[in-house]
Amino acid sequence: MNAPAGSLLYSLLHLGGFAGDLRFYSSRCSGSSRILELGCGDGRVAAAVVLGEGSLTMLQQHQVEPEQDGAATFPLEKLKCEMDAMRYLGVEMSEALAEKARSRLAPAEHCAHIVTADFHEPLGEGDFDAAILSANTLFCTPKHELVLQRCAEALAPGGRLLLDVYNAEDWHKAAQEEVQEEALAADEADDKDDLLVVVEDESGAEWKVFEREPDVDAAAQTIACHYDFEATADGTRFSQTVQHHYVLPEQLVHLLDGAGFTIEAIDGGFDGQPFEPSESEHLVVVARKLGGEDDVEESSEEA
Ligand SMILES: C[S@@+](CC[C@H](N)C(=O)[O-])C[C@H]1O[C@@H](n2cnc3c(N)ncnc32)[C@H](O)[C@@H]1O
Repeated sequence: MNAPAGSLLYSLLHLGGFAGDLRFYSSRCSGSSRILELGCGDGRVAAAVVLGEGSLTMLQQHQVEPEQDGAATFPLEKLKCEMDAMRYLGVEMSEALAEKARSRLAPAEHCAHIVTADFHEPLGEGDFDAAILSANTLFCTPKHELVLQRCAEALAPGGRLLLDVYNAEDWHKAAQEEVQEEALAADEADDKDDLLVVVEDESGAEWKVFEREPDVDAAAQTIACHYDFEATADGTRFSQTVQHHYVLPEQLVHLLDGAGFTIEAIDGGFDGQPFEPSESEHLVVVARKLGGEDDVEESSEEA
């Protein structure tokens, strides 16, 4: 049995994002007409933002029950993007994932485009009023400053950057205090049985996915997550590692400030839960690019 394509690892492991994240992104983008997503993956967030939750359900039904002769066609005119004249651009490095996103967004191809590109490259000059970096995408690169700079360049003044990353505070502290080694030793015995999820690859073959204890390097601010895949059919095994480059909450605030953003909200969850450094699992941020109408009004009030 062949191992699934490496570029689809994320897709195979993806458990559907985090509770409430699709609602967060679609509601925060509801007033935006030009949306950019960096690292859009398989179009999970794009579908919620562009097609809307109600339309998504209709789209899924349509895909399950393809159109019969004479049957009503999928109501394209009801799509959120049509109603709001919304335009969406997704940037994704993996061609396999970009293809998945394109097919997911096919009913909205007139307003949603997915390009296979590197988000470190320039992405626009004030062309967008919302930019999305969802589900830890910012941690996929060590070049946080450059990526936030690309977002700032692409946004119009007053445009919003929406992002979520995990709160790495505890991992970082534990690695610094070198309790990581103890934790590793304690977990070693359980490692083989640490079943994360069972996934199906493109050909329908079933794989069990085991997650090993991550390796945290506090000095480099990296977390290496190791996954072992085992084919249910014949026990074939292979391993893959995903490397994250994390920033701590206060570093993120500093980076956003340096890229020309002001933070409007920094929450510990997708439903506005307050951020607690030692407890919150997520860091959910809404940041506004400075220079918009709100900032002009504020500065004239101050004068
Ligand atoms: C953690 S996944 C999140 C995907 C998506 N945002 C979601 O919420 O489902 C990060 C995505 O960013 C893509 N990616 C990583 N580095 C990239 C780069 N330099 N340019 C474009 N895409 C990139 C990965 O291929 C992956 O699809």
